[in-house]
Amino acid sequence: MEQTAKNKKSNIILALDFPFEKPENRENLFSKAQHILETVNPYICTVKFNRHLVLPLGTFNGVQKLVKKVHDLGLIAIMDCKINDIGATNQTIAEYYYAAGFDALTANPFVGWEEGLKPVFDVARKLQRGVILLVYMSHKGAWEGYGQTIYDVETSEKAPQYVSFAKKALKWNADGVVVGATYPEKIREVHEILGEKIPIYSPGIGVQGGAIESALKAGARYLIVGRTITLAENPAETAKKTRDLANQCK
Ligand code: XMP
Repeated sequence: MEQTAKNKKSNIILALDFPFEKPENRENLFSKAQHILETVNPYICTVKFNRHLVLPLGTFNGVQKLVKKVHDLGLIAIMDCKINDIGATNQTIAEYYYAAGFDALTANPFVGWEEGLKPVFDVARKLQRGVILLVYMSHKGAWEGYGQTIYDVETSEKAPQYVSFAKKALKWNADGVVVGATYPEKIREVHEILGEKIPIYSPGIGVQGGAIESALKAGARYLIVGRTITLAENPAETAKKTRDLANQCK
């Protein structure tokens, strides 16, 4: 990831998301996604997929073709599936996404380690792929879960949920954590815990209200940008501007 970002001189991750289209129009959706990749790829280092494309196009149909294109363009592919089930199910989900070619996927630490995310990390290590943990989400209601105060059994003290998740990311040797750009103060706090050991991926730039400069200054390493680019009149120009601004702030 680090090497690709260096080669591309960009720390921008494109969230390849589009609004709902009738399933009978999925050819159109595929073409739109392909076109955006062709025009935007010089300005980004990674492409993040979500259900926006997996549901209508299918993992081993359209999405796998797009993942191959992402790799042919010298970029990395992340599946933002937020794995969140029992271990056996989590393992199968991870195996399918890795089989489709994804380099990394996102997972939710709320489910815990034993019979939770351990099987996902085991598969990832075997296949040399990545696992990125949610630590504090970008949306307004994130405080209700990620921001709640918990009793940490390991320290016997009260702590915010996201602080405990950041510590778990270190313990589990995660490949990255997600902290919303909409909460730069949380990015700073998480960065203090992780240092340079685990990079912070930050979504929520633009449409959700997060700003590039404050996220980077607080310690985010990669910026995830979706609708600001995919729905722009000129996605390539918007991606270039976003990349240039991010590079100026470094
Ligand atoms: P926009 O259009 O808001 O898209 O730039 C953001 C993309 O990132 C996803 N997202 C998140 N993923 N933790 C995640 O793992 C988060 O806190 C988070 N916030 C947004 C969102 O679903 C979309 O694909």
